Amino acid sequence: MPLIRIVLLSVYFTLISANFIRVNNTGAENLVLILEGVGHPPSAGVLITAGNYTELITLNEWEGSFYTYPEECLNAQCNYPVSRVSVAFERWMFGGFYDFFMVDLNRGFNVPASIKSITRPDCDVISCEANLLELCPEEDQIKNDKNQTVSCRTSALNYRTFKEKCPHARVDGSELDLGICASMNYELTFG
Ligand SMILES: *[C@@H]1O[C@H](CO)[C@@H](O)[C@H](O)[C@H]1NC(C)=O
Ligand SMILES: *[C@@H]1O[C@H](CO)[C@@H](O)[C@H](O)[C@H]1NC(C)=O
Ligand SMILES: *[C@@H]1O[C@H](CO)[C@@H](O)[C@H](O)[C@H]1NC(C)=O
Repeated sequence: MPLIRIVLLSVYFTLISANFIRVNNTGAENLVLILEGVGHPPSAGVLITAGNYTELITLNEWEGSFYTYPEECLNAQCNYPVSRVSVAFERWMFGGFYDFFMVDLNRGFNVPASIKSITRPDCDVISCEANLLELCPEEDQIKNDKNQTVSCRTSALNYRTFKEKCPHARVDGSELDLGICASMNYELTFG
């Protein structure tokens, strides 16, 4: 009997020491999803076709960002600024463990993005649903080799517009909105 107990305990700890993450591509274009843990290089990209999703787990206390590039970046180097969802999971605060998250447009925007808990509808939902590319001043537009605007750099010219259209996103030069929740599972959307 002691053996069985040990096995069950280890399963239990495996389950509670990870966060379940679902990432939906809600847009019309295929996207390459990248994860970048703080202090680590970006992961290899995973393609999520338009309308599709992928599921992954991160360890407890994982801190980093999720972001996407267009499919053309799957086998090519793209490193222009894009919309990010940044998280810090299981931080000890207010006498408990809480997750902190934001939609981060500090460097730039490429697609709408959001994050919310899957199991806790009472928690904060942070999103930027507007297509800020349409409002991007010419000098902040980043184009691909087909001359299509793929990203908009956040700048002194547009940060007010960004903040007005996406009031809960992080944009430098304005106040920070952090989502807070204690949940082991989140759904992110891009596109
Ligand atoms: C994300 O995808 C899952 C699985 O298909 C679906 O149940 C969920 O409603 C989707 N969420 C959004 C916001 O599209
Ligand atoms: C979702 O992706 C799977 C493979 O990753 C594919 O078989 C399926 O057709 C895709 N669904 C949609 C709605 O694109
Ligand atoms: C790229 O597109 C812009 C307008 O969107 C146009 O003014 C410019 O001439 C184009 N450049 C090339 C190289 O096609």
